[in-house]
Amino acid sequence: MAVRLGFVGTGGIANRHLTCAKAHPDMDIVATCDVAPDRAKAASEKYGGKPFSDFRAMYDEVKPDAIVICTPPFAHGDIEEEAARRGIHFFVEKPVAISMAMAGRVLAAVREYGVLAQVGYMFRLAPPIMKAQQMLSTRPIAMVQAHYYMPGMPANGWWAKLELGGGQLVEQATHMLDLGRFLAGDVKSVIGKTSRVRDWTPPAGYEIKGLAAYWEGMDIPDTTALILEYESGSMGTLSCSLVPQVSWDNGFKVVAENALVTIDGANVRWQNEAGPFEEAAPGDWPSLVLIDFVHAVMNGGKTTVPYEEGVKSLAVSLAGYESVNRGHQPVELAEILPAGL
Ligand SMILES: NC(=O)c1ccc[n+]([C@@H]2O[C@H](COP(=O)([O-])OP(=O)(O)OC[C@H]3O[C@@H](n4cnc5c(N)ncnc54)[C@H](O)[C@@H]3O)[C@@H](O)[C@H]2O)c1
Repeated sequence: MAVRLGFVGTGGIANRHLTCAKAHPDMDIVATCDVAPDRAKAASEKYGGKPFSDFRAMYDEVKPDAIVICTPPFAHGDIEEEAARRGIHFFVEKPVAISMAMAGRVLAAVREYGVLAQVGYMFRLAPPIMKAQQMLSTRPIAMVQAHYYMPGMPANGWWAKLELGGGQLVEQATHMLDLGRFLAGDVKSVIGKTSRVRDWTPPAGYEIKGLAAYWEGMDIPDTTALILEYESGSMGTLSCSLVPQVSWDNGFKVVAENALVTIDGANVRWQNEAGPFEEAAPGDWPSLVLIDFVHAVMNGGKTTVPYEEGVKSLAVSLAGYESVNRGHQPVELAEILPAGL
């Protein structure tokens, strides 16, 4: 029987998951919820389900099997805890929270009530990246060099504020930090440096078209660099910037024994002792992480990216900021993570 899904947060990214759910025979959209009632209503008219503006009312009235949470980084905690308490499984978009205190609370609820949780780190389920992970798993990795460059800032209000979105390092480059952990294992310590390299004050008459090139009151860095030390001894770097340039660009170079891997988005190529390899990701790859979650719920199985993984990847970003606060000293992940992770 199809999994009865409720959606909490029906803004930008929810459309990807709602589109997937509407087309998939194993998913049944039973409810949509957004604090902006017009958004919940618009989603329900387009994709189906009953609209709500209060997630508790949605849980109690519709009793979904599982929910898909697409709220901004600051809007987590109660949504997940109240679901877990009712035995409702959840898929949550990355990053799992804005702070370790918030993520730790939710982790405790996931463990206490035994619900399934999946974090939307979609790159982990892209078939070419899974093959790269397999190939790398048998050899020492020297360097995991990651970047995320974006030609401007999403103009949704919360992105520009550190306490709401966490800045690019928490909100977006988290994809790369999580993928680094997928490829090279857990991170031991982080050194961070952040910068504002340009003036984001809007000139007179400036109108936002697409990504924002200017934003009044923005308080996040526009450029960040991290140096990572993995538990295995591998080294890593992350460079990210949202200074307006010409295109989105995210990916990796991974240097391992007898192998050099290039990841461009979700496409992969490498050269190793067996020769060259190249594979492009299929068109539907960003939806595989939701499909995997729904099948885990249907079959009582495990999720591929459990909540713990989201907490560990968030901790790498937060360690980067903590290093900045400490004058660029290395910060151990063990100082940031909840006990036992
Ligand atoms: N995996 C990806 O590729 C990807 C891409 C984009 C965004 N995201 C993530 O998805 C999340 C949402 O991003 P977005 O771009 O859709 O943001 P958005 O601002 O477009 O949408 C968020 C929605 O959540 C609603 N909301 C806020 N608090 C709520 C609450 N307590 N209850 C119900 N609804 C609430 C808002 O009204 C809004 O409609 C972010 O964490 C972002 O990082 C992931």
